[in-house]
Amino acid sequence: MPTNYPTKEFIKMLPKAELHLHLEGTLEPELKLKLARRNKITIGQETIEEVQKSYQFDSLSSFLNVYYPAMNVLQTEEDFYELAWEYLKKAKEHNVRHVEVFFDPQAHTSRGVSFEKMFSGYYRAIQDSSSLGISANLIMCFLRDMSAESAMETFEQALPYKDKIVGIGLDSDERDNPPSKFFDVFKRAKEEGFYITMHCDIDQENSIEHIRQALFDAKVERLDHGTNIVENPDLVKYIKENNIGLTCCPVSNSFVVEDMKGKEIIELLEQGVKVTVNSDDPAYFQSYISDDLYALAENYSLTTEQVIQLVKNSFAIAWISEEEKEKYIQSIDEYVKTFNKLKVI
Ligand code: HPA
Ligand code: ZN
Repeated sequence: MPTNYPTKEFIKMLPKAELHLHLEGTLEPELKLKLARRNKITIGQETIEEVQKSYQFDSLSSFLNVYYPAMNVLQTEEDFYELAWEYLKKAKEHNVRHVEVFFDPQAHTSRGVSFEKMFSGYYRAIQDSSSLGISANLIMCFLRDMSAESAMETFEQALPYKDKIVGIGLDSDERDNPPSKFFDVFKRAKEEGFYITMHCDIDQENSIEHIRQALFDAKVERLDHGTNIVENPDLVKYIKENNIGLTCCPVSNSFVVEDMKGKEIIELLEQGVKVTVNSDDPAYFQSYISDDLYALAENYSLTTEQVIQLVKNSFAIAWISEEEKEKYIQSIDEYVKTFNKLKVI
């Protein structure tokens, strides 16, 4: 009997865009051990099981406490290349057709790795992504728990690579680090023509005020996470009217706040907001983009149409041309048609 519930297989091969992914969050235990050995770095773990055991967190700050020290294994240009390339190969398995990925320069420059080395490794992988049939762009994030001066310094280091970076974001620990701390540097980023996005993490102190600052003062084009906006109908109306999308990460949410925030995601989807589903830090949450979509679909009984809308949204709010959006959205319709012919969804 035909059902209207999307299967894992259907979700996995749906064409999709990933818009909320931290390259540093794709460090799988295998690669971490390999790089530690190659660079002769003691990490205190010898086996995959030991690394996995260290991946335990129940809040944003406990996650970040595991996440940053792990980056010590990233030392050479080749290490950064390999990290990004391994992710892109994984993305292909999930039929990701377009990615806009975050990277955190300060997490590397603050431990003595040069911006140039890090950037050229990442950028080389991004260029090679076309051989996988994936188009890819880089979003540089500032660490909001570092100073505004450090963000400005990082921005200036990035300017020679301006045409290789599509947008500027803000991540790390939001507590006591509101968007307003970084207004100057985001104003400059806007003037230089970058797209702007910002993490507005889940259930933060002053969540709504931070969202308000991101929207009206920093004038972001997207919000990363941002589902607390559902508490304020005026702000919801504003993002809907201005086509500002949200990049949600249900499995990540289930780790840091023990709730996928599926109810909020669905409510926003039903109100016509461009919400999308993404994986955030897949190696740490053991969930790549299709797994996130499936987890949401399964736990909240999403219909096939809702899943299709989520992936269409991912192209609709990507920083690509209208023609490209159209082409990708058509490929979703074609996929659904073919899948329907072959199988009952
Ligand atoms: N929020 C803030 N900082 C981060 C995240 C996140 O979801 N992932 C990696 N760094
Ligand atoms: Zn994130």
